Amino acid sequence: MKSYNIALIPGDGIGPDVTRAAWRAVEKVALSIGFAVTSTEFPWSCAYYKKTGAMMPADGIEQLRAFDAILLGAVGWPAQVPDSVSLHGLLLPIRKAFVQYANIRPHRLLPGVQGPLKTDAFDILCIRENTEGEYSGAGGRVHQGTPDEVAIETSIFTRTGVERILRFGFEQARKRRGKLASVTKSNAQKHTMVFWDEITTKLAADYPDIEVSTYHIDAMAARMVMAPNSLDVVVASNLFGDILTDLGAAIQGGLGFAASANINPDRSQPSMFEPVHGSAPDIAHLGIANPMAAIWSAAMMLEHLGEPEAADRLMTALSDVTRTGLGTVPGKDTTESIATAVLNALG
Ligand code: NAD
Ligand code: IPM
Ligand code: MN
Repeated sequence: MKSYNIALIPGDGIGPDVTRAAWRAVEKVALSIGFAVTSTEFPWSCAYYKKTGAMMPADGIEQLRAFDAILLGAVGWPAQVPDSVSLHGLLLPIRKAFVQYANIRPHRLLPGVQGPLKTDAFDILCIRENTEGEYSGAGGRVHQGTPDEVAIETSIFTRTGVERILRFGFEQARKRRGKLASVTKSNAQKHTMVFWDEITTKLAADYPDIEVSTYHIDAMAARMVMAPNSLDVVVASNLFGDILTDLGAAIQGGLGFAASANINPDRSQPSMFEPVHGSAPDIAHLGIANPMAAIWSAAMMLEHLGEPEAADRLMTALSDVTRTGLGTVPGKDTTESIATAVLNALG
């Protein structure tokens, strides 16, 4: 029997609730199809930081390396640990260390979900660069606390990094409707973003079957709202992709639906699957977080692991539930009732 060994990092706030729901769904679908899943839970979180002074142990990355995949809930509890410390201590190092350069974020309306736009045909795949760009972490502060203080945050765009994420986007477009939108801000940012545009033009020659468009990030934000049906695959840098995917989440009915996969495309290292949303401190402990984004992310994990039927069954179960209206109005239903309905829909 095929068997997959998964690292669970539930994290903070609503992270543990939605991860538990997703894992129950994974266990059930594995049983019904006939493959084995085992998990090891890592308590790495802001609470762990308060206890140990670190978000994960010094050898945390090495501990994760042996797993087939990582399923993560959410990281961050700003009341206790600055976000810049918690995210740079856990989530971002995992994405970088395992070269999970392709962050895939599907945005589409599940049946019965009424997004804020007057459309029922919203289906965009965002591909976000995930290891460099504006979130490279390069920079520093000098003369701290004085009037002469300087803060520098340097964007890093490498030819390797830009080429590989664009190629990944072109390949995804080939599997979908054949359209690629590349997002930059090359009118204002004349070094990095012009570089990105040049590489887009160069690679387009290798993909004559793909219709390529380029947009500035500001115009793309408006287009996603005004003409979402003109878009198929959207490729963007780390920061721009981050912002556009919260917009995509809103259009698909809320952050409780938006799933995400941090992919190491050459499969030399584990990939990580997590909802787009964070720890939601405003609703944590209320038991009303929507677990669908986490369950959808788990479906992406199963697809990546080579279990497409299991992934399909999870997605069908989610649709069966949203079609009844359950989970479609933010804050109305409990995490537990939605999770149980998904399990029941799995049969
Ligand atoms: P957030 O995504 O946690 O919350 C934004 C809004 O969406 C809140 O009103 C929240 O209640 C709502 N929301 C989010 N997920 C939901 C769900 N599943 N069901 C229903 N409503 C949901 O963003 P934030 O408030 O900016 O960040 C909170 C913390 O999470 C911060 O520490 C931030 O750095 C961190 N964060 C972590 C990740 C991650 O681990 N991948 C992602 C984003 C933010
Ligand atoms: C996301 C999150 C993270 C990111 C933060 C928490 C660092 O917002 O996954 O979208 O920007 O990558
Ligand atoms: Mn984000």
